[in-house]
Amino acid sequence: MASKESDKLRTDKTKELISLSASDFIDLQHAQEILDELRELIRFHEHKYYVEADPQISDYDYDQLEKLLVRIEQNYPQLQDPNSPSQRVGSDINQDFVQREHTYPMLSLGNTYSEEELLEFHDRIVKTIGDDFSYVCELKFDGASVSLTYLDGKLLYAVTRGDGTKGDDITANVKTIKSIPLFLGNHGYPAEFIMRGEIYMSLEGFNKLNEERIETGEPAFANPRNSAAGSLKMQNSSQVARRPLNCYLYAIISDDLASDSHYENLKLAKYWGFRISEHLKKCKDIGEVLEYIKYWNIARKKLPFDIDGIVVKVDSLRQQKQLGYTAKSPRWAISYKFKAERVSTRLESVSYQVGRTGAITPVANLTPVQLAGTIVKRASLHNADQIEMLDLHIGDAVFVEKGGEIIPKIVGVKLEERTTNLNKVIYISHCPECETQLVRMEGEANHYCPNENGCPPQIKGKIEHFISRKAMDIGFAEATVSLLFEKGYLRNIADIYNLEKTQIEALDGFREKSANNLIQSVQQSTSIPYARVLFALGIRHIG
Ligand code: IVH
Repeated sequence: MASKESDKLRTDKTKELISLSASDFIDLQHAQEILDELRELIRFHEHKYYVEADPQISDYDYDQLEKLLVRIEQNYPQLQDPNSPSQRVGSDINQDFVQREHTYPMLSLGNTYSEEELLEFHDRIVKTIGDDFSYVCELKFDGASVSLTYLDGKLLYAVTRGDGTKGDDITANVKTIKSIPLFLGNHGYPAEFIMRGEIYMSLEGFNKLNEERIETGEPAFANPRNSAAGSLKMQNSSQVARRPLNCYLYAIISDDLASDSHYENLKLAKYWGFRISEHLKKCKDIGEVLEYIKYWNIARKKLPFDIDGIVVKVDSLRQQKQLGYTAKSPRWAISYKFKAERVSTRLESVSYQVGRTGAITPVANLTPVQLAGTIVKRASLHNADQIEMLDLHIGDAVFVEKGGEIIPKIVGVKLEERTTNLNKVIYISHCPECETQLVRMEGEANHYCPNENGCPPQIKGKIEHFISRKAMDIGFAEATVSLLFEKGYLRNIADIYNLEKTQIEALDGFREKSANNLIQSVQQSTSIPYARVLFALGIRHIG
């Protein structure tokens, strides 16, 4: 994008600006000049970091630039700008999404699952436009689609797919995604145009987010796609800013494009600052398309994000026009979907886990079976409705699939193998740990054990969360919590602060020194800041 020389100039400018303080600007005009430079620089570093993965300055220096920007904008509110990089942090004000019409409808793609179907697609194209054309193959990102409108190089709106003709205006949320440019660089972009792309969550970001949610007693997301889509619909954009979202753009729509080639136009879009996949490939014939698919069917397992197939597009816009659309989808593109890996095995039993917040999770115990490189012994059953829907019987031969989800799931039953002597799975009515009658709140999918002060896994879970490193950081092992619980010394969080040295010394594996350390660690926790105490209490929905 920029030459090495201008990169160097920018690095020098960065150093100069970092050394400034907000009080160095005496008048409005000077503040505006500095703001212009600062915004341009932050955009440059953002692009280097989030789009090109080639950071030019340390995270610390970047933070200093951002802080300076926020301070100047606070001192001079009249100089604020809706496309300033400061908007990336989002806002605490709850928003209602307004609906916005799509200037060009957001269509879906036809699906194919086999080579034969793909060859039929190819034959249909050849019949209409002959065989002088190229394809572009792309990864089919598994997230939530978004339509971005740019006017004079600035992001104007971001809208969800919705029903294809109108969607929700999620501009404030999308502005927090740092790889999406708020302001374009270089030149040559149309005055007004639309970019379409997919907002997704990386597998690493998804796993981390779910760990945090489990810690704060919130339900985990089933897969990265749901968590990306859910994040985009949050009302508070400053919370969206904390979600690990990212975006690939895969189409540009305008009547005023420089090239007839989709491939070349995406290359241009990259030049203007958009994050375009590096795995895009121009294929001169269907043979190359098949090779691309074969390659990615294996290589996708090593990608840091989920894809659910390959999109095959005719490259020439003129030929795309010639081919046209059906009511639902273009005739010039198709998605080749990878089959989720599936095996069959036997359902041996269903067990029920009780979480720290009392939520019950049913788990299927299976005859161990090899699936997508791992041995699967258990599968998630989600909730009572899922079990009912599958009409599960103990001993059933079941199909297990590993798709986008990290935990395999049961997707069906081989009914032809069901014998009459099998017992239907009846969801438990009482807690498997404390026998209290379970409750299910209206509108909620999960059952709960309401005995929060008497149900052992809830008590132990709450204590374990309370003492964990991110919370009160008290140095007990999980096994120690169990021992203290069994002896009756620990029945709630407050008991931690009444523990006596002699009680601990008497436990298996403890001596005077280790008991002293434990008591000391309990003492130290009394000076932990209140925000962490609040988190440690593990109140549902409070993180
Ligand atoms: S092109 C006219 N390219 O797949 C349709 N779509 O049913 C143009 N998707 O939800 C779509 N990656 O968001 C296209 N490289 C890619 C894609 C892609 C993911 C999604 C898209 C939509 C669905 C299409």
